[in-house]
Amino acid sequence: METIISLIQKELCGAFKKAGYNEKYAKAALSNRPDLCQYQCNGALAAAKEYHKAPIQMAGEVAEILKESKSFKEISAIKPGFINITLSESFLSEYIDKMAASEAFGCEKADKPETIVIDYGGANVAKPLHVGHLRPAIIGESIKLTARYLGHNVIGDAHLGDWGLPIGLIITELKHRNSGLPYFDENFTGEYPKEAPFTVSELEEIYPFASKYSKEHPEYKEEAQQATAQLQSGRKGYLALWQHIINVSVEDLKKVYTRLNVVFDLWKKESDAQPYIPDMVKDMKENGYAHIDDGALVVDVKEETDTKEIPPCMIIKSNGATLYNTTDLATIVERRKLFDPSKIIYVVDKRQSLYFEQIFRCARKTKIIGEDVELIFIGNGTINGSDGKPFKTRDGGVPRLEKLLDEVEEKVLEKMQEREMEESEIKDVAAKVALAAIKYGDLSNQASKDYIFDMERFTSFEGNTGPYIFYTIVRIKSLLSKVQEKGIVIDGNAPLEPAHSQSETDVMLSLCKWQDTVYAAYREQAPHKICQFIYELSDSFNKFYHENRIVNNENEKVRNSYIKLSRLVGDVLGTATGLLGLEAPERM
Ligand code: ARG
Repeated sequence: METIISLIQKELCGAFKKAGYNEKYAKAALSNRPDLCQYQCNGALAAAKEYHKAPIQMAGEVAEILKESKSFKEISAIKPGFINITLSESFLSEYIDKMAASEAFGCEKADKPETIVIDYGGANVAKPLHVGHLRPAIIGESIKLTARYLGHNVIGDAHLGDWGLPIGLIITELKHRNSGLPYFDENFTGEYPKEAPFTVSELEEIYPFASKYSKEHPEYKEEAQQATAQLQSGRKGYLALWQHIINVSVEDLKKVYTRLNVVFDLWKKESDAQPYIPDMVKDMKENGYAHIDDGALVVDVKEETDTKEIPPCMIIKSNGATLYNTTDLATIVERRKLFDPSKIIYVVDKRQSLYFEQIFRCARKTKIIGEDVELIFIGNGTINGSDGKPFKTRDGGVPRLEKLLDEVEEKVLEKMQEREMEESEIKDVAAKVALAAIKYGDLSNQASKDYIFDMERFTSFEGNTGPYIFYTIVRIKSLLSKVQEKGIVIDGNAPLEPAHSQSETDVMLSLCKWQDTVYAAYREQAPHKICQFIYELSDSFNKFYHENRIVNNENEKVRNSYIKLSRLVGDVLGTATGLLGLEAPERM
């Protein structure tokens, strides 16, 4: 379905042509001055140069022609050469009717669906999810859902870190604690136990301990590095331990991601890319892309136009070990082979941006990937506490994600104390609202910007917050159940009434932005645009709701039209919040 801007533009094109001007100047945009008009065209200003005329004169000529159109209620030429546009109520309500009747409220599916891999999450086995993992998960999920909504084939991959020194550290520490385990006996030929020799909480204690200890004891670190190398070259007992670590961790990670309503299609791991490394490295050498520098194999990736130093991409260390880089490159090889995507999107902390610049350049230079595949890095900003420093939980401890979720849920529960609901329902509702507080609070910020996690503000039921948005959706749901209780039946085919008031017009104008919002959010990987849309629509709806009698309106035609409009707002808000990975409760 055509967007409203493009319909306006069509009218403009006709008028520009009729007035003798090139239609390329007939561009419509949202008004910069909503107090004066709804849309505007600045084309006359741009055209003035070509036609050597005063812009206001040209705008006036075009405006005179536009005034004849039924689509507009008001057209005026304003100095120095703007054309101010206000739509007629009937044009607007007819457009909304079409939206309501269209699939996806008029959003067109992609002509050529693309295959897109999204790499987000970034969790590491043996380490609990912490606040730093929140943003990639939330942002990546929304990008995935938005692309899928537009018909693309999207594959979300958790890309777990499971192959580096942390595993060697855990193995080493386990050995120090219990060297009698069969995993450490190189002559052991039996079957290793099915049960892991640790629980997830033990694991979470072992890793930080070993990591800290290794920093103070070089010989211990050396041992861990050796264990890592032995694991990577296939030592059986270590592989068995590694498998235990993965099993125990993944189960736990899945629990937290499920709570976050983040759903990966793939739980691939860094180790899965290892089989692709030997051939990749061979190619790089044979084709002369890689060279030895100080014993290490590297690929130069600097370019003449660089204004900052871009170091070479290291592929193999002088001791023969592969690195994070090597894995990421091999993962690209793997993804091409398995999915042949046209885009790979990475949502990772923006502090890794230089690293990804190296990886992308290296992948292109070594022809691991062709020009037809887009590699996109979305670097997310950090979450800070109210002091502007990296976020800490109330007790000042390590900000574990689960803990944060608990705290926000508690806070929401506190605010919902007076509700008359069963204990189990109130808990379920609080969990949903808490998630809205967190996700909406996050996504309403541009991905690359840092933001302050303000518990009070995020959980507030007023203002630009997740709970406020849910409140609006729930308000509409309860309005619709009243409609049902009263036995009001609405003819779905009856057209909407042209708006009776400014607040109703504003609801319709907000709705009209839906398609362009979704397209832009997809194109620019910008979920915050969906948040802006949601907030504006919620706000305009609430104003309309307060100013008008809806279910009890004495004029039946008007009542039905209001109900129809409310239902559409509810449906659109439900879909839009769905694209943020949120699901509103029935009541709250
Ligand atoms: N596990 C990594 C970390 O903790 C993040 C992974 C991001 N994705 C990637 N393909 N490198 O830093």
